[in-house]
Amino acid sequence: MSKVTTAIEGDGKFHPADYDPLSLADLQDPYPNYAAARADAPVFRSDVLGLWFISRYEDVVSAIRDTETFSSEFIQEGDRLADKLARRWPAELDAAQQGGMPDDRRFLLTTDAPAHHVRRKLAQQAFTPRRVAALEPMIESRAEELSDAMAGGEADLMASFCYPLTTYVIAGILGVGDELAGAMRKVAEDLLVTQAADRVDLDEAAAEEMLARLRRISDMHAALSAELARRRREPADDLLSALATTSLADGSVLDDEDILAMSAELILAGTDTTANQIAHSVLYTSADPRLWRSLADDPERTEAVVEESLRRRGSSKGLLRITTRDVEIGGAVIPRGSLVQLLYGAANHDETVFPDARSFCPGRPGAQQHVAFGKGTHFCLGAPLARLELKVAMRTLSRRFPDLWVPAQHLRYLPALTTHTLAALQVQTEPQQPPA
Ligand code: HEM
Repeated sequence: MSKVTTAIEGDGKFHPADYDPLSLADLQDPYPNYAAARADAPVFRSDVLGLWFISRYEDVVSAIRDTETFSSEFIQEGDRLADKLARRWPAELDAAQQGGMPDDRRFLLTTDAPAHHVRRKLAQQAFTPRRVAALEPMIESRAEELSDAMAGGEADLMASFCYPLTTYVIAGILGVGDELAGAMRKVAEDLLVTQAADRVDLDEAAAEEMLARLRRISDMHAALSAELARRRREPADDLLSALATTSLADGSVLDDEDILAMSAELILAGTDTTANQIAHSVLYTSADPRLWRSLADDPERTEAVVEESLRRRGSSKGLLRITTRDVEIGGAVIPRGSLVQLLYGAANHDETVFPDARSFCPGRPGAQQHVAFGKGTHFCLGAPLARLELKVAMRTLSRRFPDLWVPAQHLRYLPALTTHTLAALQVQTEPQQPPA
């Protein structure tokens, strides 16, 4: 898991069986492997995690559309992190999960129609454009506050701006206080890392770390459960209350387990992703000081920068599906019951759709074709909110820190299968001194 490897060997050829998406090289820069895969083996299986991968734009889009063959119900009973822990450390697992756990098989991301359709409609009814637009002043004032604390030199943009901003926003939508927002940051990481751990073997040290992560997820579940019980008694103007009271014409409603799963899903899908997207937008844009400074008062350019950063390095590398039948795609046959990662990041670098794909070109023709938010039935529920947060963050940071620059550093990414998750991003907010 931690070795530095690449699936491109000395012969310059891509060796699919050796592809390790959790290797240090791939976590840091998966795009050389993606390019090699698109050229040599566009649909392939790797032995490392036992996953199939789809890398070309056309194939990714056709798999997204074929929801009957590529099912989102990929969570496999008996094969999950908790199942593995239960076999060797049952008492420790029970203790860690004392507060209950969100049911990850009730996520929108992990269900198919008809259950997905009903839950998504109910979620959309509560998560309205009006609710999203009303958040702008709150996002702005949080961004200003966090910028105040960053003034005066060096800062870790992730810890001091990106993660707090995006967790405050999700906590604010749900309607819970700053104390829970603080804990949510870590829980977002815990949800991501424990999800990736479904695919890897555990030694004792790794098991201990995973148990600590499950304990934090369970504590958050218990706290949100108490918040929800309060909303059931006294509804407020927040998403938890809206989810608790929304219903469809046929009488469908969300029960507590649905709402708690949805809350965990918003923390999982909505904090880390947006935080890392802000960071990558800063990384790419600040490399060109004129472009960076122009964002303070050019909303159109800010929009173009945000879309191009989503295409260039969207936070989601790609989501999982499981095949419900043998399927021929991209010159390969994927057997029924296979876990498949649709590589949205590789599709967004497909030169047949995005020429000169490695370059960062805000406003490039056809930019809107990117699949950074997926497509179709499972298209990102939070895309309008993510775009709003990105816009406000870029506008605020470029206005408050017109001289911001990113010093040379080793960028470390956490071992997450489906997202690019930076451990830190050092930035300088004061002008760069010319060499003496
Ligand atoms: C830049 C930030 C974000 C990126 C790159 C991103 C990316 C994605 C992608 C690629 C999917 C599709 C999953 C699939 O095909 O199975 C997705 C789904 C989802 N996203 Fe986002 N997302 C972002 C921000 C957010 C935010 C802020 C929220 C919450 C408020 C959110 C909530 C969701 C939910 C609930 C789903 C599941 C939708 C469904 O399956 O019906 N995301 N996101």
